[in-house]
Parts: sequence; C-alpha cells; structure tokens
Amino acid sequence: MNAVHTVPIGVLASGNGTNLQAILDAIDAHRLDAAVRVVVSDAPGAFALERAQRHHIPARALERKAFATKKDFEEQIVQALHHYGVELVCLAGYMRIVGTTLLGAFPRRILNIHPALLPAFPGLDAQRQAIEYGAKFSGCTVHVVDEETDHGPIVCQVAVAVAEDDTAETLAQRILKEEHRLYPAAIQLYAEGRLRIEGRRVRIAPPGINPVTWGNER
Ligand code: GRF
Repeated sequence: MNAVHTVPIGVLASGNGTNLQAILDAIDAHRLDAAVRVVVSDAPGAFALERAQRHHIPARALERKAFATKKDFEEQIVQALHHYGVELVCLAGYMRIVGTTLLGAFPRRILNIHPALLPAFPGLDAQRQAIEYGAKFSGCTVHVVDEETDHGPIVCQVAVAVAEDDTAETLAQRILKEEHRLYPAAIQLYAEGRLRIEGRRVRIAPPGINPVTWGNER
C-alpha cells in the first residue's frame, strides 16, 4: 500500500458547512487519513464555524471588510493555516475567489468542490444553470484550485441525472449527497499519495502503486 500519512488540512467555508461535516464524519469513520487542523470562514455567522467548535477544532472568522486589501485578508488566512500546520487546503462552500496570496502559499495544494461537471456550469447557481440549459446530467467535481475560477485540473467527478421534475433545489440536494461522498474520497487519494498533476490532467495511481515510479513504464 502507498505510505499513508495523516494529512493536516485546513477548511475554508462560508456557509452551512455540510462538506466540512462530511470530511469530519469520514475522519471519524476511519475512511479518511486526515485531520482538520483549523476551519476559517469569511462569514462570522457561518454554521461551519459551529460545526468546528462542536468538534473542538480551532475556528477563525475573518471578515473581508476588516482588511484594506484582498492581499491583507488572504495573508491573515495564510497565517492561520500555517499556524496550525496545514498541508492541504480544502474549500468547502467557500464563496470567494482565491487570490494570488493564498494560491502562492499553497501551490497545487488547494482543492475545491463544485456542484457541476466542470467545465460545464462554472460559477454560482450551477444547479440552476444545468436545469435551465436542459442538461440531462449534472453532478459534482473536485478540482485543484488555480488562478481561474472553477478551472483547475480535475481530480474526480460524479454524474447525477437530472430528473424531469427537478428544480434547482431538488437537484442541489441530490448533488450535495454525492459531494459528501466524493470530497472525502478525493482527499484520501491525496493522503495515499496517488495523485499526480500532469498539465491539465490529474493522474490517479492504482492502489498500492508508488506514484513516483507509476506512469514511467511506457
Ligand atoms: C455545495 O453545493 C458546494 O458544492 C458549494 O457550496 C455548497 C454548500 O456547501 N461550493 P456546504 O454545505 O457549505 O459545504
């Protein structure tokens, strides 16, 4: 098996935090070799912060308007993440665009989950976009965050059929259930050292294969 180390992760969330909860539940169920070291929110009232406190995890609320620039704001986020020894940053319902300060501090080590099959339906209200477009399938995507929105290399995806009578809300609820399975699984692939970014592609080594040698056999 690949050497698995307990990945210290930091979670950024702006809202309810159900993806944070899914990560915490996966850790507790020994399905995910990670530890959430800190939860940072840009919204002081975010329920994600309550979820962190219930799990006795340090929680930081940083209001953007308290900082003169986005750089100053993200420097505070980076400081908190470094303070708690975070290796991998997981955006979980984080509603801000990641800037160069945060990206530069964690190059290729920020993941995001998006409720659509990227590159389809990037941005806000992805579920409504899918309904209004008449898509027969949508789903969710875990991807590496880069300097563009919902654009970085794709780690994994799950498709969800759009039902004839779906509304954006009913579709969002079904996709959310898949997100809660997909995100912990994607982080576990990172924990097992099975991900290798090659340009736009994220190649996933089979279980037990050392990614350092994997892929050079051709
Ligand atoms: C989820 O659909 C996620 O894909 C999007 O924000 C929604 C809420 O996430 N980024 P959560 O319940 O706050 O984790």
